[in-house]
Amino acid sequence: MVSKKMEKELNNQLNAEMYSGYLYLAMAAYFEDSDLSGFANWMRVQAQEELSHSMRFYDYIIRRGAKVSLDAIEKPNFEWGSPLEVFDHVLSHEKTVSGLINNLVNLAIEENDHATNNFLQWFVEEQVEEEESASAALNKVKLASDTHNGILIIDSEFASRVYTPDSQE
Ligand code: FEO
Repeated sequence: MVSKKMEKELNNQLNAEMYSGYLYLAMAAYFEDSDLSGFANWMRVQAQEELSHSMRFYDYIIRRGAKVSLDAIEKPNFEWGSPLEVFDHVLSHEKTVSGLINNLVNLAIEENDHATNNFLQWFVEEQVEEEESASAALNKVKLASDTHNGILIIDSEFASRVYTPDSQE
């Protein structure tokens, strides 16, 4: 069992991961609208990853005999000024999510909830990867932003990103 407080926080994180998926789908739509289908692909893959993150919380809540509660998902921003602005936001968003995961780990430690702490460690590592990949993408977009050609080159690179499901052992 997990505590009532932990149940609530795990559900909040399930919702936050769904929101991340929504946010990346909104960014994908922005890029589709800008005829940058490679950028849109990068965001679609990111959105799929986020859905799989929320399902990890969903499954864990059930496995611990707690109750899944699904709240409304906040409406994401659809208006962006440039690809650079979008990727700036991706990195800052992922840093925020890392903070949320850290808060959850702190709560698990406070409550002596080793099982939840153990479950969360996958996310601690995942957030290192998420920040790393957002930062690498942002740097590329920054370098490319000065020229139209640069953006098109990055667009064709981002077109090759594929979603690889995590193993859920
Ligand atoms: Fe689920 Fe991008 O963190």
